[in-house]
Amino acid sequence: MDELELVRPMPSHKNSAEEFKREFFSCGEKIINGSALLDQMEYDKWLENVERNSSPETARKDWVVADTFFAVRKADDRIIGMVDIRHNLDNEFLSKYGGHIGYAVRPSERRKGYATQILKMALQHAKSIGLSRVMLGCYSDNLASIKTIEKCGGVLAETKPYVDGKPMNVYWIANI
Ligand SMILES: CC(C)(COP(=O)(O)OP(=O)(O)OC[C@H]1O[C@@H](n2cnc3c(N)ncnc32)[C@H](O)[C@@H]1OP(=O)(O)O)[C@@H](O)C(=O)NCCC(=O)NCCS
Repeated sequence: MDELELVRPMPSHKNSAEEFKREFFSCGEKIINGSALLDQMEYDKWLENVERNSSPETARKDWVVADTFFAVRKADDRIIGMVDIRHNLDNEFLSKYGGHIGYAVRPSERRKGYATQILKMALQHAKSIGLSRVMLGCYSDNLASIKTIEKCGGVLAETKPYVDGKPMNVYWIANI
């Protein structure tokens, strides 16, 4: 496994971000967790939205301030994954289900330890913005995510139905 870095999305990422997105779709994955809706939006509009949501002055009223990053492999600048770190849970969906951090690794780069590396870096960022406890949610059958969260210190708080009725787990990580 190579070293990654969290990079703020820029206009220059347009082609590689679109290629990243296409890989999920071609594997039948319509949702990209932690992408702040890159899966539903055209890149330029999405970038504008991500930039707006990163500041308390301009964040959308129906969401919270959030920092969205590409996890880029240093060796070749390839986008390996994405992660979204929300500054608070002052939103009904996030406080019940979504939590502070969402993330995904592109299908061709899974099972190499990258999610664990991404979550560790996200926790450092969360700490730098003052989050000493972090909530994460995932489906109860998402073994890969459960293992990733547990490896980073996650403690299961509850299991309950997600909005679609499927069971989900809620974890908290003490981030001190
Ligand atoms: C969940 C996800 C991020 C894991 O990414 P990854 O880079 O493959 O994870 P890692 O390589 O760091 O593996 C973490 C652990 O999960 C295990 N794991 C990974 N994929 C697995 C699978 N399909 N089944 C069982 N265990 C799996 C790994 O073996 C590792 O555990 P170990 O260290 O004990 O061996 C990736 O599968 C993904 O993007 N899924 C779709 C989006 C998603 O579910 N996001 C999380 C919810 S917010």
